[in-house]
Amino acid sequence: MGNENREQWGSKIGFVLAASGSAIGLGNIWRFPYLTGMNGGAAFVFVYLLIVLFIGFTVMLAELVIGRASQRGAVGAFKVLSKNPLWQLTGWAGVVCGGVILSYYGVVAGWSIKYAIASFGDLMSVAEAGGAGDYFGAFITNTTQVVIYQVIFMIMTIYVVAGGIGGGIERACKFMMPALFAILIILIVRAVTLPGAEKGIEFYLNPDFSKITGTTLLVALGQAFFSLSLGMGAMITYGSYLKRNDNIVTSSFYVVSMDTLIAFLAGFAIFPAVFAMGVQPGAGPGLTFITLPGVFARMPAGVFFSCAFFVLLFFAAFTSAISLLEAVAAYFKDELGWSRAKASWIMGAAITALGVPSAMSLGGTPELFGMGFMDAMEYLSDKILMPLGAIFIVLFAGWMMADKIEKEITSDGQYTFGLYNVWVWLARVVAPTAIAIIFVNGIWG
Ligand code: TRP
Repeated sequence: MGNENREQWGSKIGFVLAASGSAIGLGNIWRFPYLTGMNGGAAFVFVYLLIVLFIGFTVMLAELVIGRASQRGAVGAFKVLSKNPLWQLTGWAGVVCGGVILSYYGVVAGWSIKYAIASFGDLMSVAEAGGAGDYFGAFITNTTQVVIYQVIFMIMTIYVVAGGIGGGIERACKFMMPALFAILIILIVRAVTLPGAEKGIEFYLNPDFSKITGTTLLVALGQAFFSLSLGMGAMITYGSYLKRNDNIVTSSFYVVSMDTLIAFLAGFAIFPAVFAMGVQPGAGPGLTFITLPGVFARMPAGVFFSCAFFVLLFFAAFTSAISLLEAVAAYFKDELGWSRAKASWIMGAAITALGVPSAMSLGGTPELFGMGFMDAMEYLSDKILMPLGAIFIVLFAGWMMADKIEKEITSDGQYTFGLYNVWVWLARVVAPTAIAIIFVNGIWG
């Protein structure tokens, strides 16, 4: 298969922004802060940073090198690189996982649109009166409304993916990622200048190491994978549009750093405000949709900051959803020869349909495997498909490509990678073992 016609990223910065856009999502702005709030603050942040550095970076480089070497999406990559067809199961699991994640991701992303609009409506007055929890509950159980926002979100996602790599994905990310950064900085300046913000900064930056437990490690490891978009071939697919002479070591480093920086900054926008307003940080998943509107409602110009925050959340979710759909559509495009537009619209529609039972399940039914449908989808992707995918991806890069991987990583010696030997052993032994531990604990723990 000649690849002369394969689409490519227009520039290195375009790739870095698109891959960072994939990584930076609900995981950074919504999940990272609430997990930090529930798991002891600064101690959790410290553990998270170590895990990202040693394991996150290792898996990121493994995915990009598999994609770039094969010039194919998640399934095709294994077909090209190995004679043993069993490896393709890893790619298959990734495609299924991408669809499963996107089905419920689109639902939660739709909430951010609703909240950005509602910031101008009744949200602030209701939240000021202490009604943010009821407001959220009433919204998510109104299935018709939730599905409308989900469908709007999904149509936008499909439209960008159908537009292609350079013209669609890269262009959208080049606009949204800097905008996201700017909004985040404004929110941080607001938060840290509130009277009483110091207590939040203390909670966030001054670690109490006695709070680190086995659970902290497992939660941090799971969060690192989700946040960096690893374990389902999304980065294999993005890597496949890289040019042979791009430096993938520095690219991996930038993407991992950007993702981690944004998660870290999101905490800086949230905890000082939460503490300044005397609210508890450990609210869990409701921190963003229940606690924060209450915080904004009591700030001067709260409407503006609330809207800015939910637009930020929307941008973050949007660029991630694009990568999830791209990873699925690439299979139908590369392996079945569908056109990009056909793959995007048909798979996008199917995934949207799969999201509807998730949206409905917030009202109680339907159930699957004895849990709400959305929880079941999350369990299947986060606890089963992603860890298994990540294990096989690093093992493949570390062992199966052993004879050529150093040349691949350094673009035939064009670049140097001083820590190559450390990376290889992290990929062969340390990362698979660590992930296997999360996997076993996640299922039986
Ligand atoms: N990383 C995204 C977030 O933090 C979610 C995401 C996008 C993802 N693409 C992915 C997770 C691929 C796993 C695999 O919100």
